Amino acid sequence: MPHGLFITFEGLDGSGKTTQINRLATWLKKRGYSTVITRQPGGTATGERIRALVLDSRSKGLAPQCEMALMFAARAQTIAEVIKPALAEGKIVLCDRFTDSTEAYQGGGRELGSEVVLELHRLLCSNLRPDLTFLLLPPLGPALARARRRNLRTADKNKGDENRFEQEQDAFYRRVRKKYLKIAAREHARVVLIEGDHGIKEVHEHIVAAVAERLAKLAAATPK
Ligand code: TYD
Repeated sequence: MPHGLFITFEGLDGSGKTTQINRLATWLKKRGYSTVITRQPGGTATGERIRALVLDSRSKGLAPQCEMALMFAARAQTIAEVIKPALAEGKIVLCDRFTDSTEAYQGGGRELGSEVVLELHRLLCSNLRPDLTFLLLPPLGPALARARRRNLRTADKNKGDENRFEQEQDAFYRRVRKKYLKIAAREHARVVLIEGDHGIKEVHEHIVAAVAERLAKLAAATPK
């Protein structure tokens, strides 16, 4: 495949993104597509160190601007080290969160606004745009409860945790959700919104249908 394809997964904490990414990767690999999975924040050795810092509940009193800068720092590294090289080799990149997360969480949740996020994306991420984005927005209550349970289970007193965001109030998450919906409306050609409570299999089928359509278009546009 001469063109890579860049697919991102977005949504609330506990929305089941990771499960869907793994399922889609299996589906793609079975069909012979070379696939790379990465995540934000994280995805590289440097990025994972930034992730540990920014998600750990021991990082107290982070200024929203600092938080946003760290998200972009991790992203710039992943783009350079993982995403761009993979796309150049014609691979399919599945990325767990990307700049829509920064717009929703720091722009919306922390109320920094969209403009600064989009401007930093232009400056630091060469405005790299996903070809396709799946936005999973299940009802807020159950999703957050799931994320909080999982993070408490995996927390380690000595090594830290990934609980800093899950300690936010529901009002924060309502702002995140609202901003996500705004992004979906603004970028409807790119963003596939999967809202509400659906089973894992149903969501997977929805995702696979959209990806298959995109792959067929790519194949039709590729000179034989
Ligand atoms: P993630 O590991 O995807 O958490 P979950 O599996 O619970 O969805 O993301 C970690 C957290 O980082 C999540 O609470 C959202 C937050 N985040 C931001 O606030 N801004 C960003 O730019 C990114 C990429 C993540």
